[in-house]
Amino acid sequence: MLGDFSYCNPTKLYFGKNALEGLKEELPKYGKNVLLVYGGGSIKKNGIYDKVMVVLRECGKTVYEDGGVMPNPTVEKLYEGVQRARDAKADFILAVGGGSVCDYSKAVSISVNCKEDPWEKYYIRFEDVDPDCKIIPVGCVLTMVGTGSEMNGGSVITNHKQKLKIGHVFGENVFPKFSVLDPEFTFTLPRYQMVAGFYDIMSHILEQYFSGEDDNTSDYISEGLLRSLIHSAEIAVKNPSDYEARSNIMWTATWALNTLIAKGKSTDWEVHMIGQAVGAHTDATHGMTLSAVSMAYYRAIMPYGLKKFVRYAVNVWDVNPVGKTDETIAQEGLAAMESWMRRIGLVMNLSDLGVKEDMIDGIVKSTLIMQGGYKVLTEDDVRAILKASL
Ligand code: NZQ
Ligand code: ZN
Repeated sequence: MLGDFSYCNPTKLYFGKNALEGLKEELPKYGKNVLLVYGGGSIKKNGIYDKVMVVLRECGKTVYEDGGVMPNPTVEKLYEGVQRARDAKADFILAVGGGSVCDYSKAVSISVNCKEDPWEKYYIRFEDVDPDCKIIPVGCVLTMVGTGSEMNGGSVITNHKQKLKIGHVFGENVFPKFSVLDPEFTFTLPRYQMVAGFYDIMSHILEQYFSGEDDNTSDYISEGLLRSLIHSAEIAVKNPSDYEARSNIMWTATWALNTLIAKGKSTDWEVHMIGQAVGAHTDATHGMTLSAVSMAYYRAIMPYGLKKFVRYAVNVWDVNPVGKTDETIAQEGLAAMESWMRRIGLVMNLSDLGVKEDMIDGIVKSTLIMQGGYKVLTEDDVRAILKASL
């Protein structure tokens, strides 16, 4: 492990069938006015809203609601949420939903007392929260597994007018104070969302794994997480209410993107940059934007990180290396990955997300180029990957 780093994760987790009990322990630590943030209404249909409201009432909170957070939350919604939080004089923000609701809540939390336009400051200029800007504390009750937003400082906001979907990874001061992770809260997810989340997890791990040349503990942890995910996802797609599989996946998702496996790594994130650009142009489901471009991307960069792709094939996909060239082993690993992706029902082509050939130049323009992977892409590389993904 050759990189230097500091490590701290301040988010307290409550995990399992009684995780909501944790909310009772946590809420009394914060002020009376709670902004309850949620999405398009799934929590009202599946009963989670009622369960959370019971706890909020028991804890004597005054609740102000901010519903209607859309998947891939927009900058317009952020401005609206900031106004609501100001009007409510919110002491605390409780996010009940998936990554979109958690990300949005973090964005509101750092924007309520921000003197500038938060989109410009945090997402265009990539600035940190000013030291004198009071951050409203956030807690999460997670209902969709994938993003890791429940235990990280990430917050992704979409600006459709500017055709930009940008994620800013903030520091520990922006992490949720706590997160409630009850695997059963995710059982009502539509299959499409469920499997999109599974691939989001895989992609997060791979974005960190496929970087660097050194022998790094983070890579061994990543391989373990990947093996658990691959195994449990096969079970979950056959039986979505298999608690053991869904709980393993929920836990894997959190560790996939809570900063641990990035330690000592340069990390890549180019699949996410391309996927986010696709998202900015189509508003497609995040995990599916990643699955649609991944195989073309990994096949394109494989020659530049061959040793790691060989290790991936053998340690994660159990490819037998005996008597084979490195190229063959690496290709067999990617083929095994692709057939797993198809088996669990992921979107494998951009055309299935509404992308047409004449949109490709625009998507290329919206794609940020990262420096930490095995190949720093050119615009032409991005274009070729997008074309191969159509
Ligand atoms: O809005 P509701 O009605 O709640 O429905 C949601 C939404 O339609 C539904 N859903 C969630 N939980 C449910 C449920 N439906 C039934 N039962 C439940 N228990 O699922 C749909 C998708 O929800 P969403 O929150 O959008 O999904 P996800 O968790 O994948 O979040 C996506 C957002 O997170 C960002 C993405 O870019 C995207 O904007 N990301 C955040 C990251 C981070 N914070 O670190 C990293 C990721 O790479 C990602 O970029
Ligand atoms: Zn992701």
